[in-house]
Amino acid sequence: MTDLTTLEADVLAQVAAAGDLTALDAVRVAALGKTGSISGLLKTLGAMSPDERKERGAAINLLRDRVQTALNEKKAALESAALDARLASETLDLTLPAPYRRKGSVHPTMQVMDEMIAIFAEMGFAVAEGPDIEDDFHNFTALNFPPKHPAREMHDTFFFNQKEDGGRMLLRTHTSPVQVRTMVSQKPPIRIIAPGRTYRCDSDATHTPMFHQVEGLVIDKGIHMGHLKWTLETFIARFFETDAVTTQFRPHHFPFTEPSAEMDVQCDRSGGEIKIGQGTSWLEILGCGMVHPNVLRACGIDPDEYQGFAFGMGVDRLGMLKYGMPDLRDMFASDGRWLSHYGFSAFAAPNPASGLS
Ligand code: DAH
Repeated sequence: MTDLTTLEADVLAQVAAAGDLTALDAVRVAALGKTGSISGLLKTLGAMSPDERKERGAAINLLRDRVQTALNEKKAALESAALDARLASETLDLTLPAPYRRKGSVHPTMQVMDEMIAIFAEMGFAVAEGPDIEDDFHNFTALNFPPKHPAREMHDTFFFNQKEDGGRMLLRTHTSPVQVRTMVSQKPPIRIIAPGRTYRCDSDATHTPMFHQVEGLVIDKGIHMGHLKWTLETFIARFFETDAVTTQFRPHHFPFTEPSAEMDVQCDRSGGEIKIGQGTSWLEILGCGMVHPNVLRACGIDPDEYQGFAFGMGVDRLGMLKYGMPDLRDMFASDGRWLSHYGFSAFAAPNPASGLS
C-alpha cells in the first residue's frame, strides 16, 4: 500500500502547488484522466485475485475520492481568488461622465407652453402664476362650485389630511384658481394666461395624475362672447400654424362661467391619425365661457360694471395633437429615447415672428 500513500501525497502536493485553474486541471488530468496515474492503478485490478482486488479496489477508490475532494476544494479556492482579483482590478468610478452623453432637449410640454405664451403675449396677455397646493376657496368656492356639489368630487381631487381647523388643502385640479388670485389682487382691465401643473386622480392613455393646463382670463368693460370667439380662433389658427382651422362652440356647463361652451376643432380621423384643418370629425380641445357674476363678486369685482371671458385647455393634450404623440403617459415616463425623439432644441425658442416649432 505504500505506493498508494506515496502517490496520494504526491498528487495532493501537486494540487496544493497549482497556482491557477489551468495548472490545477493539468494535475486533475494527470491523476484522474483516462491515462492518469490513479486511473492506471484501477486498470491493474483485472489481473488480481478476487480477494486482492476487493481490498486494493476499495483503497484505490478511497484514494480517488480524496484526490477528487482536494481538487474540488482547490478549484473553489482558486475561483474565488480569481474573482477577488478581478473585483479589485475592475473598479468602476460611477462619478465619471459616461462616454456617450445624450444631448439635452426641451420637453414637448414646455415647448407647447412656450408656443402658447408667445402667441398670447403677442395678443397682449401677461403670464400669471399660482400655487400647486390650493385651498378649497380658490379651487372651488370662489369659482361658484356650490358646497357639497358633486362637481367637487367629479374632479377626482387629491386632498391633504384635514387640518386642526377642519379645512383641508388640495392639489389644484385646474388652473382656474389663478383667475381668482388675479382678480383679487389686480384691478381690471385684466388680460392673463396662467400656465401650470394640475392634478387629478386618473390614469389612462389620455389622462395622467399630473398634467398641464393653460387658463385664460380677460376682464374689462363691454366684453362679450365675440371677443372670446375671436381670441380662441386666432389662437388655434396660430398654434396649428394653418388658416384652415374651423371651430365650433357647443353649449356646456361649468360652474364658473355663464354661458359656458366647449370648443371643438374640425379634424380628420381616418387612417388612425388625427389631422387638424380637414375632414368631417370634431375634436373637443377646450372649455370656455363668460365669467359668472358670482365669481366676479367673490373676487370683489362689480358684475354690473365689468364682464369677462375665461378659457382653460390641456397643454399636454394639445401637444399630442400637434406633434403626434399617441400616449399621454409617455410624456412623463422620463425615457431618454422618447425625449430625444420628441424633444426640441433649446436654441429654437418659439416666437410668432420666426415660426413656432
Ligand atoms: N377649469 C376647467 C377644467 O379644468 C377648464 C375651463 C373651462 C376653464 C372653462 C375655464 C373655463 O376658465 O371658462 O376642466
